[in-house]
Amino acid sequence: MPPRPKYTTLDPSLYEYLLAHRTPDDDVVRELREETARLGGHADMQISPDQATFLRILVNAIGARRAIEVGTFTGLSALAIARGLPPGGHLLCLDVSEEWTKVACRYWAKAGVAERIELRVGPAAETLRALPESPPYDFAFIDADKKGYPVYWEEILRRLRPGGLVAVDNVLWDGDVVRPMKRGEDVEAIRRFNDMARADARVESVMLPVADGLTLARKLP
Ligand SMILES: C[S@@+](CC[C@H](N)C(=O)[O-])C[C@H]1O[C@@H](n2cnc3c(N)ncnc32)[C@H](O)[C@@H]1O
Repeated sequence: MPPRPKYTTLDPSLYEYLLAHRTPDDDVVRELREETARLGGHADMQISPDQATFLRILVNAIGARRAIEVGTFTGLSALAIARGLPPGGHLLCLDVSEEWTKVACRYWAKAGVAERIELRVGPAAETLRALPESPPYDFAFIDADKKGYPVYWEEILRRLRPGGLVAVDNVLWDGDVVRPMKRGEDVEAIRRFNDMARADARVESVMLPVADGLTLARKLP
């Protein structure tokens, strides 16, 4: 028998309460969110504020020193990850957009973490395939084009240390993953990816209802 569902649906006031009960954002994050909001519709691509806090705590909690991100946009998730790294830590960011990542670079400098971040602009699949397999990464965040997820997953897992974590964003796709009438390249790509990740014996994984759904996978020793 399936377990009795145990979750709390977030309406706007409960979400506001949740946001207010975490470590507050500093001025750099607030300014970055405001500048990104001025981009209009694209701004929705930015991770949520609570997700940024979560990523920073997670990266710090596992003692990550080397991290990689696929899908940087204006840089909020990268800022959170970089802030979770120790001094001397390294984050490699991959994105195709010069325009959006220029914004990111300004905020990384403002936050004093620019020296921890290396940005490579170009299709992430090509950049990943060209990376050496060592030294391995401790942490990875995947948040780019959805049809690319299987390649990003595969190339990252090959370069992740045993015990390292991969976090994958948008795995619930606004709930459409369980609505068969919802068709389209993105939702179908996410469904395929979720099934693939679930069947991957190299990891243990859990899908968290954080923002639009976040899969956390730990590479088994
Ligand atoms: C959802 S946004 C990332 C949001 C970001 N993580 C943040 O916190 O603001 C997706 C990003 O993936 C990038 N992207 C799309 N296709 C890509 C590809 N083939 N290779 C690398 N980046 C890609 C886009 O330029 C965009 O900046």
